[in-house]
Amino acid sequence: MQNPSMRNLFMQYLGLPSEAPMGFEASRADGVFIYNKDGEKFYDLVSGVSVSNLGHQHPEIVQAVKDQIDKHMHLMVYGEFVQPVQVELAELLIENLAGNLNSVYFVNSGSEAIEGAMKLAKRYTGRSEIIAFKNAYHGSTHGALSLLGDETFKRNYRPLLPDIRQLRFNVKEDLQQITGKTAAVVLEPIQSEAGICIPDDDYLRNLRQRCDETGTLLVFDEIQTGFGRTGKLFAHEHWNVIPDILCIAKAFGGGMPLGAFVANKQVMDSFKTNPMLGHITTFGGHPVSCAAALANLKILLRDDLISQVEAKAALYFSHLKHPKIKKVWGKGLFIGIELETPEEAAKVMAIGVRIGFITDLFLFKPNAFRIGAPLIITENQIMETIKLIHQALDEL
Ligand SMILES: Cc1ncc(COP(=O)(O)O)c(C=O)c1O
Repeated sequence: MQNPSMRNLFMQYLGLPSEAPMGFEASRADGVFIYNKDGEKFYDLVSGVSVSNLGHQHPEIVQAVKDQIDKHMHLMVYGEFVQPVQVELAELLIENLAGNLNSVYFVNSGSEAIEGAMKLAKRYTGRSEIIAFKNAYHGSTHGALSLLGDETFKRNYRPLLPDIRQLRFNVKEDLQQITGKTAAVVLEPIQSEAGICIPDDDYLRNLRQRCDETGTLLVFDEIQTGFGRTGKLFAHEHWNVIPDILCIAKAFGGGMPLGAFVANKQVMDSFKTNPMLGHITTFGGHPVSCAAALANLKILLRDDLISQVEAKAALYFSHLKHPKIKKVWGKGLFIGIELETPEEAAKVMAIGVRIGFITDLFLFKPNAFRIGAPLIITENQIMETIKLIHQALDEL
């Protein structure tokens, strides 16, 4: 009898979130490429969903991870021991943030960053209402799910958190619903899973103003838009609007699992008393993840990759032209390609996995697929990926 394939074992032994996973059989990755089990290379146009902004296996990140492992791995639950790698990372991050964002609480993931931000806002303001937005995605734990802007994915988990209110994204009139009862407004400055929704120029400023009027904390979820993806270190810099709490994860860890929420120290200190231990996390700020993140952030700043994002994105905007494409839009290297139907978008994904590129869909915009290539992608590689995408579209 033949041995069962790895794919069959994957389907049998792993808990999976869908009936039809991509099922790509990866063997290794390097730069902008992921290799399948036969050693064939595929362009990674998703970056592990906005994670691998410096590509895969960046040698300096790999070295930093190895060096840290040689020193130590986990020592103690988060926040008790002084671990230099955490401190250095927090310091460098803070140096590169505007405003009063000067205290970093390390966690494991994006969802946990959102949980921490919601809890912190409740503690600091003494209020319970939290406002989020239609078509928002903030993660899959119960708190983050309570903010999700779509009923289909929430329905089976109710009752969720009470006192959550959903506004329409980018609708100025709705901002009046933010009141003195609102602890926090949680918003992605560019909505990701809604299909890269970019707000009008004055929207975030109006939102900031309304939060200031009502004493509400403004929380930005930059878990997907952070670390250069949109052409700035953080997307909120496009509008010069600074949040009270910034949530980060994904590309933060340079390929390792890491999240954080960042706030002003005075706000953050609400976790320390009455009672203490406002948020507890064993692995938050894991030293190996922090070592990867520190190397990642240093490279991102040193190599001036972020300033090249716009020119690279412009190649996609000017050269992606095909009768099947209804629209190409986005911010930086966070690009959506709209087709006629969800079936067409799914088919492009399937063809890509055959001819040499990996893409993904959006949770709330099924007739589109995304390009979120590693920021290190070269101009020649971009032109090659455009050719491949056109080839896939020809096959529709
Ligand atoms: C905007 C946004 N927020 C939060 C999350 C949740 O992050 P994680 O999957 O690390 O919990 C995601 C993940 O896709 C996201 O895109």
